[in-house]
Amino acid sequence: MKTIIEPFRIKVVEPLKMTTREHRENVLRDAGFNVFLMPAEDVLIDLLTDSGTGAMSSEQWAAIMRGDESYAGARSYYRFESRLQQITGFEHIIPTHQGRASERILFELVGGPDKVIPNNNHFDTTRANVEHSGAVALDLVIDEGANPRSRHPFKGNLDIDKLERLFKDVGPERIPLVMVTITNNSGGGQPVSLENLKAVRKVCDQYKTPMFLDACRFAENAFFIKEREEGQSDRSVESIVREMFDLADGATISAKKDGLVNIGGVLLLRDESLYQNARNLLILTEGFSTYGGLAGRDLDAMAQGFEEVLHEDYLNYRIRSTEYLGKKLLESGIQIVEPPGGHAVYIDAAEFCPHIPSAQFPGQALVAALYRHGGIRAVEIGSVMFGEHAKMELVRLAIPRRVYTQSQIDYVIEVIQEVHAKRDEIRGLKIVEAPPVLRHFTARFAEV
Ligand code: F0G
Repeated sequence: MKTIIEPFRIKVVEPLKMTTREHRENVLRDAGFNVFLMPAEDVLIDLLTDSGTGAMSSEQWAAIMRGDESYAGARSYYRFESRLQQITGFEHIIPTHQGRASERILFELVGGPDKVIPNNNHFDTTRANVEHSGAVALDLVIDEGANPRSRHPFKGNLDIDKLERLFKDVGPERIPLVMVTITNNSGGGQPVSLENLKAVRKVCDQYKTPMFLDACRFAENAFFIKEREEGQSDRSVESIVREMFDLADGATISAKKDGLVNIGGVLLLRDESLYQNARNLLILTEGFSTYGGLAGRDLDAMAQGFEEVLHEDYLNYRIRSTEYLGKKLLESGIQIVEPPGGHAVYIDAAEFCPHIPSAQFPGQALVAALYRHGGIRAVEIGSVMFGEHAKMELVRLAIPRRVYTQSQIDYVIEVIQEVHAKRDEIRGLKIVEAPPVLRHFTARFAEV
């Protein structure tokens, strides 16, 4: 197969700062071994997240200049609304400043004490917003989804038996909605099949319960469906996307992922009264319903981003280049969540650092080692992030969209190989300071 080339050329560049090992050692200690607490300038290759870190296209920058900053009824809003209506088929399109703002509004309205929200895997902010409302967040991903070695093509699928059992056990009146995260970020960026979405829909219909998507990476999920699901290969990604949204009663979207923008979010709703209530909350805390906490230019850039993300040359490059990183690591004997996800490769840190027990955070220790050795910033998705809910000890290498070249990714591979060769030297960590919720953002650690 030919080299997968980046389907764009570079028009603007941003220099990277080269640092010494000694400098990085100091940065790491100052940050309490938490890469969220270090200046980004001291990072060489930043794989902390694919969220809001992508490069915008020339057309998106042009859209920024076209942005209409009117308080109400801005032209940019109508562009954004009509683009989202076109790809999702939803009538009610609420702009928010990012995904968690959509989650906060949704769960304030449908959550609350005694309620239970099932999901394949809740993302951390989703879980936090569900729990903040007083409800319980349950992860019902299929068993293969928690096994790094399983090659199931749709490891993000929600387990239908577990879902049916939940409805029988707690009763539909306590389940205000069922959520499905596409792709399943906390479970390794793994896709959910159309067949599975239809099966969830069927259970929801049976119990008259709405089905919602956490659709941050809807385009990547649809591309996987086209590639892997029987009978889907001849369809356009756009038509698969439409079918996924047609199955749902609502969706939260962080546009910082497949919206290809640096800030922005969406809340999609079908139910009229839920929409009215959500809009009122939006006005209370985010902004008027035609800007939702964003500038007009942000809405315009989103309108353009939601179009570009469905270009199949882009999606092919996107999925292939993530797969390239994953394959090279596997070939070097480094266990990752197989197969590689859409937006990220997840290293199995428990396997990488068998000498470090969960209580000493093997993932966080590996994150520190990657930074120390090569200036690479990754993120722990394991016991630090999820505490006792953690099913795996993972280190995520999230790939920002359209940002890094293949040679930069080759450098990342070399650094990880070198750290792997000396993995016995990686030391476990202990927490010295942590907040009560979402502790991974601000906790400080020391080496054991
Ligand atoms: N849902 C999923 C599946 C996500 O991955 C994220 C964000 C959110 C919701 C919240 O969106 O950040 O715009 O408020 N994920 C980022 C990440 C932060 O690094 O995976 P947000």
